[in-house]
Amino acid sequence: MERKLSNTDKKKLDVLYNAIQNNAENFIGYPVSKDFNYEELFRFLKFPLNNLGDPFMPSTWKVDSREMEREVIEFMADLLHAPKDNWWGYVTNGGSEGNMYGLYLARELYPKGMVYFSQDTHYSVNKNLRILNMQRVVIKSQQNGEINYDDLKETIARNRHMPPIIFANIGTTMREAKDDLVKIKAIMDDLAIEDYYIHADGALSGMISPFLEPKPNFDFVDGADSMSISGHKFLGSPIPSGVVIAKKNNIDRISKSIAYIGSDDTTIPGSRNGFSPLVWWYAIKTLGKEGLKARVEDSLKKADYTWQKLMMNGIEAWRNPNSITVVLPAPEQEIVEKWQLATEKGITHFILMPNTPYETIDAILKDVIPSVKRMK
Ligand SMILES: Cc1ncc(COP(=O)(O)O)c(C=O)c1O
Repeated sequence: MERKLSNTDKKKLDVLYNAIQNNAENFIGYPVSKDFNYEELFRFLKFPLNNLGDPFMPSTWKVDSREMEREVIEFMADLLHAPKDNWWGYVTNGGSEGNMYGLYLARELYPKGMVYFSQDTHYSVNKNLRILNMQRVVIKSQQNGEINYDDLKETIARNRHMPPIIFANIGTTMREAKDDLVKIKAIMDDLAIEDYYIHADGALSGMISPFLEPKPNFDFVDGADSMSISGHKFLGSPIPSGVVIAKKNNIDRISKSIAYIGSDDTTIPGSRNGFSPLVWWYAIKTLGKEGLKARVEDSLKKADYTWQKLMMNGIEAWRNPNSITVVLPAPEQEIVEKWQLATEKGITHFILMPNTPYETIDAILKDVIPSVKRMK
């Protein structure tokens, strides 16, 4: 039977398209890039692409993009200084899945471990820990959103019979604060703890930090055992996606061979989206490290512009050093709705994603500045 939409349903799609087009113009409050064009990849949408199984193992199923996925993981492992010949990873459905993977791996290695994370950690992490049934302690944050190292040390010292699993933030959701992995490792040395695991949540800033000077202490050389990054955030993707990178020797301890797919069952989902690895591959190939660096520089320049304009107009705005997030008091609800601003406890943020036009920033500031003043 020929598949055809009725005229009513066609109209419904048009209405949705126009609404999305309009909504996509008007936001600055969420860390989502929109300056991409993946038209060259559209032809792959006619296939049931599925990267099921481990990207690095042969598989009986061949309607996949696992070759490109391997290239993506290799690029990211290099960018994040993963140990030579001891890295592994896959393209996920987003940062939350990569974080869950890191925690799952940590739990398999240390079933009696205790997870520590700061109060500024993304809401999905607590849910992941409930699903994984892992014991956890929330650590105080500093004012800038970074973990409080004194509280971390004292709390670990009280539970030293349980291997610590540190869930570190490389860019918190509201303030883009980065926990310092070298400081975290120093705590373990001070307490003479040898068995521990560090997972780095770099949902947004994992893709920015490799290009910052000075380089933040955030990746595998600084102590990470695994790291998760979102693809729809800094890189830009029409479908939520991400990558998770981990140490291969740790994966080998948990992998299981599955006869039905002729591959190893190392990933969280069975069937996996085969289009997102193409998006990552296309972005990496067309931008390269130089292009990614230029995107970071563009965002930093615009964050500085936005912060300066707010300050010049008497709004108490601030940003963490080298971050693309500007934090400010929340404006009125009507303005929050209009510009899709994420707010929490009386503050909001602008996230200056690459290639945000100055005209958009100026239009938002024109609404936000008087509104914040009225709120005072
Ligand atoms: C710090 C942090 N971690 C994790 C996530 C979840 O990532 P995703 O939406 O890609 O699942 C986010 C999302 O905003 C985040 O800000």
